[in-house]
Amino acid sequence: MKQSKSVFVAIVLAFLNIGLSMPVTASAMVNPQIKKEAFGMTSGGESVELYTLTNANGMEARIMTYGGAIVSLKVPDRAGKFADVVLGHDTLDGYLKRSPYFGSIIGRYGNRIGRGQFSLNGKQYRLPKNNGENTLHGGDHGFDKVLWKAKELKSGNGVGLSLTYLSKDGEEGFPGNLSVTVIYTLTNNNELKIDYAATTDKATVVNLTNHSYFNLAGQGDILQHELMINAKRFTPVDSGLIPTGELRDVQGTPMDFTRSAVIGARIGQRDEQLAFGKGYDHNWALNNNTGRLALAARVYEPRTGRVMEVSTTEPGLQFYSGNFLDGSITGKGGQVYQHRYGFCLETQHFPDSPNKPRFPSTVLRPGQMYKTSTIYKFSVK
Ligand code: BGC
Repeated sequence: MKQSKSVFVAIVLAFLNIGLSMPVTASAMVNPQIKKEAFGMTSGGESVELYTLTNANGMEARIMTYGGAIVSLKVPDRAGKFADVVLGHDTLDGYLKRSPYFGSIIGRYGNRIGRGQFSLNGKQYRLPKNNGENTLHGGDHGFDKVLWKAKELKSGNGVGLSLTYLSKDGEEGFPGNLSVTVIYTLTNNNELKIDYAATTDKATVVNLTNHSYFNLAGQGDILQHELMINAKRFTPVDSGLIPTGELRDVQGTPMDFTRSAVIGARIGQRDEQLAFGKGYDHNWALNNNTGRLALAARVYEPRTGRVMEVSTTEPGLQFYSGNFLDGSITGKGGQVYQHRYGFCLETQHFPDSPNKPRFPSTVLRPGQMYKTSTIYKFSVK
């Protein structure tokens, strides 16, 4: 009797020991949940809400209704230690004062439209030129600067937030009332899934994406991150970053990420495309153009072991290496965002498609449904 008791105690102790040697933070199962709180007011006096989504592994995504932006994303490293892997501000005020689209939903048209114009059904449309001669990320007042209506969702395998916005006919020069829904789902597989949907009452162009700046180390520059992009070709640009229309082979160029490569390894090479982008700021034509979900990119941060995999239904991926960050923005926790402290992987249709008839079409017509999905999946190696 006494012996069996001590065996029992030994087994319990052994279990406890295993338990203690494991990273408590990452292994503790918690109930998936959503919490809502006030985040502040816009200059127009509208209140902005912040939603905190937590999955069963304790991974956490915070999303606000202003710009539908991902404010923070906490994921574990290989020791189970959580860090926030996206850039941004601690307060709404920070976002209102200065944000280069930190974490925001981008629309109606992600990336650039050349000369701020396009024609559709024989009619010419003029858009605000907010990037030299061109229109960037939907114009002066894109989807990153509007208030989204939020609804909490509970899904079988996680928690979600549905955001809706009605972009009126003529807003920022685009035709048609566009009704947009973006659903963020944080799954128990440590995925942040983004489902975009839209309908219109007049023919228009649509290209929606998310503009999170990632740093899988949680600090410092991103030059040691290793990146794979599942693309044999990219769309070279002119000096204004408008695609020339060509699809160019990446082979033998610094754009070749078909095999995982350190971001900083070739970024300083003498190369016309890198010079135009001041680093990487280009669209890759993904190998998968079936419209079905497939792996687009994988990023690995060697110090922390964090891995991020991006899957999408989209044909393109903008890899932007944070070249315009210059230390003039102080973000979360007083961090000064220096040159290349974050990178973006924006899933999309190709830039300037409305003026490039040979690129996959971004036209949406009445009766059609715009539908795309992107997943950012986190793990460790
Ligand atoms: C663009 C960059 C731009 C950045 C922030 C990216 O999507 O490609 O050229 O500087 O967004 O505005």
